[in-house]
Amino acid sequence: MKQKLEEIRERARAELEAASVVEDIEALRIKYAGKKGELTNILKQMGKLSPEERPVVGQLANEVRSFIENAVEKKKAELAEAMLEKQLEEEKLDVTLPADVTPLGHKHPLSIVLDEIKEIFVGMGFEIVDGPEVEYDYYNFEALNIPKDHPARDTQDTFYITDNILLRTQTSPVQVRVMEKQKPPIRIISPGRVFRSDAVDATHSPLFHQIEGLVVDKDITFADLKGTLETFIKRLYGEESVVRFRPHHFPFTEPSAEVDVQCFSCKGKGCRVCKNEGWIEILGCGMVHPKVLENCGIDPEVYSGFALGLGLERVAMRRYGVDDMRLFFDNDTRFLSQFE
Ligand code: DAH
Repeated sequence: MKQKLEEIRERARAELEAASVVEDIEALRIKYAGKKGELTNILKQMGKLSPEERPVVGQLANEVRSFIENAVEKKKAELAEAMLEKQLEEEKLDVTLPADVTPLGHKHPLSIVLDEIKEIFVGMGFEIVDGPEVEYDYYNFEALNIPKDHPARDTQDTFYITDNILLRTQTSPVQVRVMEKQKPPIRIISPGRVFRSDAVDATHSPLFHQIEGLVVDKDITFADLKGTLETFIKRLYGEESVVRFRPHHFPFTEPSAEVDVQCFSCKGKGCRVCKNEGWIEILGCGMVHPKVLENCGIDPEVYSGFALGLGLERVAMRRYGVDDMRLFFDNDTRFLSQFE
């Protein structure tokens, strides 16, 4: 019997050692030390022993039982520990790894340039006003001294919605809306989208942006216009910029002019940037036509004013050396990300 008990201890030790999952260990405990286990079976045969042998075998049986129970507990604890280690190893986080970069939005190049232009004009005391993109023929043309049969209408291929409603082809109608509502002194700029039925190419788009400027007060002269524009252009393109006023015609201003800056690339000698002209056209301007003032209920005998209109895309193209306007509208992030 003693031998059997020793043999049970050895088998239990070896099998427990080999076990690698908790279920197997529990099964071994039941097999050896359970109620119907091998130990119990042996103890049932104790009756056959002599009174001298009984306590000796009994003690050994208890030793074997506690050995098995201890070994089972130890093995279970070892396994639990090993599983925890494994889990910790698998779920390891390297907190020193660089995080994914969250892409941050930034201003569109047209917005950067527009904000700069607004700031310059606001600095000179101008207010910023808004006007509708869907406009009446009256505001876009008629009130601006461009009657129905005027040739100037042909140069602005208009998207008509009805006979007298259209998508504005210029920001100039805002002049009329402001003058109708506000008595002089007036000093405003109005940036916004304009629409013309133009075919898309490197310098044309059916949708582009203009910035309108209007000043009306007593004794406003062409000198005020020149001073304001020279200040504006030098702030925008640098103090060393050279500005030229060239006579032109617009129906809503008299006299009218176009303003050129000397090409900053070749300093007036002529190059690819200025198409060999030495000068780059920036904007149109002039003294508000007396008829336009009258149309808006402002007495041209008492008040005078100047107006100007510039194209935002052109200014931005020149500022950043962009030679294709379409890049501003494509929304290709490879282009846009260069303006972060
Ligand atoms: N509206 C003109 C255009 O689209 C630009 C312009 C020229 C606006 C002269 C003005 C101005 O206010 O005085 O071509």
